Amino acid sequence: MTNDGATRAMVAGVLLAVLAVTFTRLAGPRTAPTSDSPPPKVYRKLLEPPSRAAVNEHLAATLMQRGKRVYEACVACHLPTGVGVPGTNPPLIGSHIADAPPGRLIRAMLHGVEGPLTIDGEEYEGVMPPAQVETDDDLAAVLTYIRRSWGNAGSAVTPAMVRAVREATREHEGHWTTEDLNRIVD
Ligand code: HEC
Repeated sequence: MTNDGATRAMVAGVLLAVLAVTFTRLAGPRTAPTSDSPPPKVYRKLLEPPSRAAVNEHLAATLMQRGKRVYEACVACHLPTGVGVPGTNPPLIGSHIADAPPGRLIRAMLHGVEGPLTIDGEEYEGVMPPAQVETDDDLAAVLTYIRRSWGNAGSAVTPAMVRAVREATREHEGHWTTEDLNRIVD
């Protein structure tokens, strides 16, 4: 019987010890992570800053998506594939769009353009009213879209570029002439 008593006491002791250990474990780790602890490995990749190239790619892709929608304001004259109407509305395919100084295209959008224009040997003597596009973001988007669609491979036009030209031409009144725009080099 005394043996039994000792066994019971031992079992009870072991149980208590297990409970005590479990309880301290559950109560939390002894060293809580601090903001200085390295993040868990799976997150480390996400926390790296994106490269400049990745940011530019992302911006261009966002502008393209938005620009495709804004281009609805242009399709009636320049057609869905940018081919235009020979002799009436110029095509938007070619180096005169893809390689043009952004300042030239932004001015044409903001205030409209008129006057003789020769593209691919075809003469245009029309008038384009100011674009029916309100915000700098939308203007940048539609210009990026036409500079990078249908085989064009020009650089993107950013909202900041549009903002700068809008500021610089605040005093301008009336349509630009093609002659004025030819003097724009940036
Ligand atoms: C009402 C018809 C019409 C609409 C709408 C229109 N355009 Fe035009 N666009 C023209 C005509 C006409 C010209 C040529 C003007 C000239 O002969 O100087 C032109 C010229 C241009 C040029 C060349 C400017 C230059 O001289 O370098 C660009 C770029 C252009 N349009 C883009 C657009 C975009 C983008 C939109 C939509 C936001 C748009 N157009 C909407 C008729 C239109």
